[in-house]
Amino acid sequence: MIISMAEYNRRRKHLMALMEPNSIAIVPSASEQLRSRDTTYHFRQDSDFYYLSGITEPDAVLVLIPGRRHGQFVVFCRERDSGQELWHGNRAGPEGMCELYRADDAFPVSDIDEILPGLLEGRDRVYYSLGRRTEFDRQIMGWVNQIRSQEASGAVPPGEFTDLDHMLHELRLYKSAAELRLMRKAADISARGHCRAMQRCKSGMYEYQLEAELQYEFAQRGARFPAYPSIVGSGANACVMHYTDNGDKLRDGELVLIDAGCELEYYASDVTRTFPVNGRFSKEQRVLYELVLNMQQAAIDQVKPGNHWNQPHDASVTALTEGLVELGLLRGRVSSLIKRKAYREFYMHRVGHWLGLDVHDVGDYRVAEQWRVLEPGMVMTVEPGLYVPVGNTRVAKKWRGIGIRIEDDVIVTDTGSEIMSSGAPKTIEEIEALMAA
Ligand code: GLY
Ligand code: MN
Ligand code: MN
Repeated sequence: MIISMAEYNRRRKHLMALMEPNSIAIVPSASEQLRSRDTTYHFRQDSDFYYLSGITEPDAVLVLIPGRRHGQFVVFCRERDSGQELWHGNRAGPEGMCELYRADDAFPVSDIDEILPGLLEGRDRVYYSLGRRTEFDRQIMGWVNQIRSQEASGAVPPGEFTDLDHMLHELRLYKSAAELRLMRKAADISARGHCRAMQRCKSGMYEYQLEAELQYEFAQRGARFPAYPSIVGSGANACVMHYTDNGDKLRDGELVLIDAGCELEYYASDVTRTFPVNGRFSKEQRVLYELVLNMQQAAIDQVKPGNHWNQPHDASVTALTEGLVELGLLRGRVSSLIKRKAYREFYMHRVGHWLGLDVHDVGDYRVAEQWRVLEPGMVMTVEPGLYVPVGNTRVAKKWRGIGIRIEDDVIVTDTGSEIMSSGAPKTIEEIEALMAA
């Protein structure tokens, strides 16, 4: 189920084929982050570093030097240390990096100041993503200055610096068969979490208790962590886009919006369902819910190769504006309302984003100033929403305090799209049936 070492090797080869002759790419790993005093957050590898290596240790640096006779793939890492390993677990060490991760050459990271300047020296181009890690940026500049200071003795400082992001993120945008298998599994686990939350939901429970139901399902199925902090917003909390307090009581008659997805083997899923706390949609909830479902279907219908990135969003906007006019929440001509973005008061985000190792995954949305054309192997979310905060006095009272979003994870296929998260019910009939069972 996991990504094979052969695939990591292919990724590096692919990237190196795009690099210019006599160049070098440098990718530092993530480092441990303090949570409190002497306690760290659970370590999570940097997605770029992981994509190119599969290595899950902190304090490492990956270096690619296409065409280098003594090895193109070089790793700096922590040395083995029985004392540290007794407390914190195994380290690969330089030898392990060669044996397990197929590095051509590996050195202790404590020696990087001695070795890396020699690898940088004389390169025409350095691919490196500046500005993400201040400490490492400074180290790189230090090495370059060290080479400059030896110019009189014939040392040649590296030529241009180029951001690695663009090239690497283009590769990450197209998912392989193995990546899609993992992402389908992740989306399915998340869908099961949403089902569990629907089945266990009762008025009087707290939002965090529903969060716990999802987390239980994720962890039981091998995905220990969510891909992002879960949002469980009942009633008007659903209108707060990044609500993560999850501390309120679930009340009879309200809806609850859950935006929660697990991360499986580093791949994210991102799923939202909105359902009634008591298992039955009220009249107003039903009407607005059907509208969001229409928006989502209209958007999904536009996910196909050859269409551009913005077509699904445009379709959701049209469906929403038509619906709001029909219901009397907006007044005027649909076309002019769309033109002046009148819907923005109810729908203030976009219909989706790329999905992959990062929940808001990498990849350009525009190419040469045009919206990007969708191609098979790209993965995105489709997540329209409709939010009427309690403070919106421009609409009839009966609509206020309702927030709805429906979010699925979708692959662009050769012929159209594949929804990976369809295990979580989303029609009113399906949701009411599951909650009644
Ligand atoms: N959960 C973050 C998002 O939906 O984009
Ligand atoms: Mn989401
Ligand atoms: Mn999303």
